[in-house]
Amino acid sequence: MATSRQRETTVTITGAGGQIGYALLYRIAAGDMLGPDRPVRLRLLEIPQGIRSAEGAALELQDCAFPLLRDVEISDAPAVAFDGCDIALLVGARPRGPGMERADLLAANAGIFGPQGAAIGEAASDGVRVVVVGNPANTNALIAAASASGIPADRFTALTRLDHNRAVGQLTQTLGVRADEIENVAIWGNHSATQFPDVSHARARGERVVDALAERLGGGDAAQAWLDDTFIPRVAKRGAEIIEVRGSSSVASAANAAIEHVRDEQAGTPWTSAAVVSRGEYGVPEGLVCSFPVRSDGNGYRVIEGLEVDARARARIEASVAELVAERDAVRALGVF
Ligand code: NAD
Ligand code: LMR
Repeated sequence: MATSRQRETTVTITGAGGQIGYALLYRIAAGDMLGPDRPVRLRLLEIPQGIRSAEGAALELQDCAFPLLRDVEISDAPAVAFDGCDIALLVGARPRGPGMERADLLAANAGIFGPQGAAIGEAASDGVRVVVVGNPANTNALIAAASASGIPADRFTALTRLDHNRAVGQLTQTLGVRADEIENVAIWGNHSATQFPDVSHARARGERVVDALAERLGGGDAAQAWLDDTFIPRVAKRGAEIIEVRGSSSVASAANAAIEHVRDEQAGTPWTSAAVVSRGEYGVPEGLVCSFPVRSDGNGYRVIEGLEVDARARARIEASVAELVAERDAVRALGVF
């Protein structure tokens, strides 16, 4: 059978014993991420306190009897968990604790993503691709990429697909269309409240979203007011809204976005959003891990270039990029790279 002859793909998930890990594992093992023809080997990395939870999840994986799942290995050693890794989802991170300053948070996460990046450089397969989910995702990806010697930095990405999907979700509500009728939404900048969810190139059922909004909301000024006062803050602060309403951060939607990020990177897509290492596109300083509109031909995300960016959009992108620069400088000051 074709399935059994396919090379197995080794997928490493860090923080696999946590909430997002729990939501990810079963969908990956079921084939939602890589498709029905690619068997997977799962490598779960946890800290010692999280190992039991990962072991419990592995028992349940066994009980699902997924035909595509070849084996599951659990470890608290990055060198073991990243051995032969083809795709890494870096989910485990240090959350902000009470009284913790931003610099403390960056330092704590540098202590996680530096060694994990180094282990990826030493142990992963030559073609490894990495997506960072754990916050602050963009800067954690920057740290991991800088620490992974021998792996091209452009193999490292950070998740802004959740923000992208949130933007699409808001538009479906306001325009009364389905999610698959909306295209070319873009998220720029950091996965934080400074991000810029941009609809200037977006279309709904083929019509420009800005025109559809103007028709629906009573003119161009009303549409612009809705974008500035409702849509952009709602999408950018949706993570906080979920925490407030649910009592804990987004899990199912985050896992779904991570799966779609990897799926579209591997299968190819003409347009989505992802945080990738800047090559200076749109004036974003080289080396920053910044969200852009991207496409993939199946060999990694590339920034979609040549889009018109007006003054209003430029100011929003610059504000979020300034935050990324500040995070990078804070990490540099710690001597991480
Ligand atoms: P969680 O606390 O339920 O799970 C995190 C897991 O990571 C825990 O089991 C913990 O033991 C483990 N962990 C901690 N340090 C580790 C290390 N050094 N190596 C391996 N494992 C480690 O949290 P969660 O709800 O699963 O969220 C995980 C991260 O994802 C958080 O940083 C959260 O802010 C982030 N997040 C990002 C997005 C996004 O769109 N980028 C969306 C939602 C959540
Ligand atoms: C989200 O966007 O839902 C998360 O990044 C929020 C968080 O702080 O974990």
